[in-house]
Amino acid sequence: MADSRVVIVKNLTERFDELLVLENVSIEVLRAENLVVFGKSGSGKSVLLKCIIGLMKPDKGSIYINNQNVLELSVHQLNQVRKDIGFLFQSAALYDSMTVRENLSFPLKRHFNEMGPKEIDDKVRNTLELVSLEEAIDKMPSELSGGMKKRIGLARSIITDPALMLYDEPTTGLDPITSKEISELILNLQKKLNMTSIVVTHDLICAEIIADRAIFLRDAHVAYEGKIDELTKSKDPFLKNFFSHGIIKV
Ligand SMILES: Nc1ncnc2c1ncn2[C@@H]1O[C@H](COP(=O)(O)OP(=O)(O)O)[C@@H](O)[C@H]1O
Ligand SMILES: [Mg+2]
Repeated sequence: MADSRVVIVKNLTERFDELLVLENVSIEVLRAENLVVFGKSGSGKSVLLKCIIGLMKPDKGSIYINNQNVLELSVHQLNQVRKDIGFLFQSAALYDSMTVRENLSFPLKRHFNEMGPKEIDDKVRNTLELVSLEEAIDKMPSELSGGMKKRIGLARSIITDPALMLYDEPTTGLDPITSKEISELILNLQKKLNMTSIVVTHDLICAEIIADRAIFLRDAHVAYEGKIDELTKSKDPFLKNFFSHGIIKV
């Protein structure tokens, strides 16, 4: 029987010298599910994503993506697995000296060297349509608003049709309205393309729009897990404090 778990992280431990960032962290994400990861700044959210995508090697534990143990794969096999993962990191800027078309062609050329120019161009247009920015195809990033850049960045990360998307603070730095638009776009794309996602965010509005389920990292562990409304309505003093002061978008 096919395993519907796209991501399995088992007993992941990561430390930097004396600093224990994650200890025996285990998570599972099911196909087409959106998991939101909360936690204070410095709680290891980005480290978790980096371990999943293979940018960081954990000290202990295992990580399975589509039933493949990524820590035991060869470089070639790991690259095959990575083809199926898209990520949108907060700092992921567009290349300023390239047009939108060139920015979007870039991952296609890198991952699919069999694709011809016409095919690439069609894919770029179709993906721009998904984020409602067809008209921006020949623009330079400097001509775009912050929200438009985010949408193009999103288009660039989904253009290779990843089955799994990892988002690190996708709405940070955006005003509340744009942030809501981007969150809704992420959810729509996720449904339309049947993607599985892990979303690290501080933005409660974003989380409420996107999340099927959420976990909370604290003191190197998964301290809480549940539906967003269960967490936000929790009587637990730490959660109450976090949700009333920590991440309400201003
Ligand atoms: N490459 C690294 N070397 C040393 N310390 C790191 C490294 N990456 C992250 N850290 C530390 O690990 C902790 C968790 O970082 P991070 O996952 O980025 O937190 P956040 O939850 O804010 O995303 C922080 O204290 C950070 O300083
Ligand atoms: Mg981070």
